[in-house]
Formats: sequence, C-alpha cells, structure tokens
Amino acid sequence: MKATAIAHPNIALVKYWGKRDAELNLPATGSLSWTFGPMRTRTFVEWTSGGVDAGTSADRIRFDGEVATGRDAARIARFLDMVRSRRPELGAATVVTDNDFPTAAGLASSAAGFAALALAATSAAGLNLEPHELSVLARRGSGSAARSLSGGFVRMHRGENPDGSDAYAEQIFGADHWPLRMLVALTTTGRKAVSSTVGMNRTVDTSPYFDAWTREVPLQLEAATRAIEARDFEAVAAVAEHSACAMHASALAARPAVIYWKPATLAVMHLVTELRAAGTPAFFTIDAGPHVKVITAPDAAELVESALRDIDGVVDVIPAGPGGDAQLVT
Ligand code: DP6
Repeated sequence: MKATAIAHPNIALVKYWGKRDAELNLPATGSLSWTFGPMRTRTFVEWTSGGVDAGTSADRIRFDGEVATGRDAARIARFLDMVRSRRPELGAATVVTDNDFPTAAGLASSAAGFAALALAATSAAGLNLEPHELSVLARRGSGSAARSLSGGFVRMHRGENPDGSDAYAEQIFGADHWPLRMLVALTTTGRKAVSSTVGMNRTVDTSPYFDAWTREVPLQLEAATRAIEARDFEAVAAVAEHSACAMHASALAARPAVIYWKPATLAVMHLVTELRAAGTPAFFTIDAGPHVKVITAPDAAELVESALRDIDGVVDVIPAGPGGDAQLVT
C-alpha cells in the first residue's frame, strides 16, 4: 500500500488561463507545454486500510521536510479524498513530498507535485489507471499537473463533456524530438502574491478581454503544434510569446488588475527581443509570477545565460533541459 513517484515541471508554450468549471477544474481552453528537467518533485504515499470517518482529516502530509498546513495541506487532502472515493476501504494516508528546486521559484511546483501525487497515490492504492484516466485525475489537483505526467511536448485537451472525462493531456512529441534548453531568470525571492488559481478566476469573472483570449487559443494551439513538428524556432517563438503576452493582457484588464511583472521581468523581455533580433534563438514566456523562462537552443544557452545574469534585478538563473515522463521509483 505504498509507492513513490517522481514528476518534472512543465512550461506552457500555449497557456491555460481560465476554467469552464471550477469544481471539476475544467479548463476553458486547451494548452500546450514542454516538460523540463532535471528538477523534479518526488512523492511518497502510504495508505492505511479500514476507511476514514467522514469529515476527519487523519492524513499526515509533509512538504519539503515540514508538516504541511493550511491551504497546501487542504488541497492535498482533498485530492486524497478523490482517490479514496474510488476505493472506500482506503484509510488515512502518509504523504511525503520534496522538490529539488525552490518552491517559490515559479517553476510550476503544483504541476509536478500533483502529477507525482496522482501517480504515487493511485499506484499505492492498487488502482492501475490508464494514462488518460490518470491525467484526468491529476487535473483535479491542478490543471497544469495533467501535463506533467508526460515528458516532451504535451497537449492538454479542453474537452467537451460536462464530467471532464475528455479533458486530459497527452504527449504529442517526445523529449528527444527537439532538445531545447531553458533558462529561468528569477527576478524576486519569496512566494508570489496572487496564485494562478486566484488570478485566472478573477480574469474569468471580471476581465473584458477574457472572451477574446479563449477565442484565439485554438489557433495558437494549431500554430504551436505545427511549429514544434517542423522544429521551426522562429514560429514557436512567435506563438509562445504571443500566448504569454495575451494571457497577461487579459489578467491586467481584470478588476482589480492582476499584475505579475516586476521591473526586471520587463527588462528580460526586452533583452530577449533584442537578442533574437540580432540572430540568437531565444524567446520568453511568463507564468503567474514575476520570473521569466527563456527558451533557447543548446549552442546559444551559454550566451543567453550570461546576458540574463547581467540584468539588474535578475537574482539567479536556473538552467533546464528536456524532461521525461512521470514514473514510479523505489
Ligand atoms: C500561468 O495549473 O496552477 O502556469 O488548475 O488552478 O491549479 P490550477 O492552475 P495551474 O495554472 C497554471 C497557469 C499558468 C499557465 C499554464 O501552466 O498553462
């Protein structure tokens, strides 16, 4: 009744931003991501048997060496309840999860976290879910987690079914298809002010640009898929930068505005634009935080890293490369 799994984070090249159903965590649009490593989350789960009394929370959850409390613990316990609902004889769980990267670094820790938890918790429970079912379950923990179960380039489907059974992610190209590099330019220390869930919900509820955003995403998905298939760097750069800027534009127009950028965020965006104009393959993308992820080619990574380090306000640069599938480990 125990298992350990690892999963890598992913970065969306076409962003997920907005839900069509908050309870089932159904995305308003599809999305497309690249899974990266070597950073990873490692999660151990052990179940007791005998069921649990409704309304009690006997799960023991440790996160990066400390007992998890508050919102983080509640989110994990709720996810464990979903696994228990499939197998009522399961009792309380012990969960021990560790990231080998700073949780506050904006590296989509909830994506790798819920992917590893979904795999470890179901496998420890003896539920051998098909990849599609496992992705649907991981999505309930965090939308982006559905994508971290697979390595390489991954497409998340919006789905049409009200129960979310067709809102899942699948690999479209393997990690070896295109061995890109990424440099994460950290522009602050500490946790972000507005979580992605809160930021996207406020955008859905109040931004006049949200509908425009959802209408355009299907075109971005097609363009990104074609560009990745052809390994056309310029074309991926164009669609990924546009997707990130359009996502942030919709958030900026929310009430009150959701502003994730810091001065150094913009400085990095300008630097990357200049580098690309001068012939260096590099493009930026930004999630729900102030850090900038710069995607580049292996032979340009050194140059891009040193240019990023020279920017005032960039506190660190973390290099990354392709990441593989989530997997069970011993
Ligand atoms: C900006 O997957 O963290 O990183 O489903 O509410 O947990 P929840 O949201 P989450 O949102 C990710 C938003 C994003 C874009 C992306 O990864 O596609």
